[in-house]
Amino acid sequence: MSFNDKKMQLDLSYKSENNELKSFQLHEGLIHLTLKREDLLGDGISGNKLRKLKYNVAKAIQGGYTKVITFGGAYSNHILAASYIKKNYGIDIIGVIRGEELIDKIDDNPTLSKAKENGMQFHFISREVYRNKLSTDFINELEAKYGAFYLLPEGGTNELAIKGCEEILTDSDASFDYICCAVGTGGTIAGLINASTENQKVVGFSALKGNFLKDDVAGLVTKKNWTIQTDYHFGGYAKVNAELITFMNDFKRDTGIILDPIYNGKMIYGIYDLIKKGYFPKNTSILAIHTGGVQAVLGMNELLKKKGLPLINS
Ligand SMILES: Cc1ncc(COP(=O)(O)O)c(C=O)c1O
Repeated sequence: MSFNDKKMQLDLSYKSENNELKSFQLHEGLIHLTLKREDLLGDGISGNKLRKLKYNVAKAIQGGYTKVITFGGAYSNHILAASYIKKNYGIDIIGVIRGEELIDKIDDNPTLSKAKENGMQFHFISREVYRNKLSTDFINELEAKYGAFYLLPEGGTNELAIKGCEEILTDSDASFDYICCAVGTGGTIAGLINASTENQKVVGFSALKGNFLKDDVAGLVTKKNWTIQTDYHFGGYAKVNAELITFMNDFKRDTGIILDPIYNGKMIYGIYDLIKKGYFPKNTSILAIHTGGVQAVLGMNELLKKKGLPLINS
């Protein structure tokens, strides 16, 4: 599927929003898609990460914490964003990283090397220990080693993160019929659901394989005006194929906007596919949230090179 499919000729018009954010619009017949550029926010920390960290960092500072500990994988957007807690606020940040073997590979990994440059300390653990990272034993072990710390969960999702994500939507977004976003742990969509109006529908695009996110999100919100699309994971978390990469490169060519391959590339692909399939009624206006994460392109291109797949243009 090409972004410039004949039946879906794009009329790309750029408009300035909030004085600084640029959105892009796609007019397909009577369907209007606007992209909210949360990826352009912030200095180092951007997109939903900025929203998720805002109230957590405030709480850590208020509580007098000098250390924050968080968790993530080798290419995690959250790990990189969290490293800015040291750089921007001077609070020590320790990243508990999945995969002991990475200890010798920090400098070969664009996410970890940048996080290190920002002042993050690493605590590498096996995948097995990582699965039990919130067990009392492991938390006690971390306390024994590092002393008191503020715990920021994997992906940064907690109540304060959801509160921050509610601020993605502003009053001027109330006119959209649909709000779309990518879903990983569910925090971002939970904030969007809370901030949406009763007449709006919120559609999440799961970046992971399986149906479990529906239950996860249901546990975070009370409203019912949302659904999760589970057909656009491309094989699972961080899995990609040539079709997705070609789509993202066409999108970049036509709009100038870089999408990340793990979340936003899959979401936009999904929205485009649903438009083609007639999922959205005519006269619909859709607001898609670009949640950032573009830093993942570097690491993904390293993997794609090894696999002989086309690279993502950035
Ligand atoms: C760029 C980006 N978009 C979307 C998501 C999904 O957000 P959430 O985990 O809140 O569902 C993530 C992961 O946290 C992300 O890094």
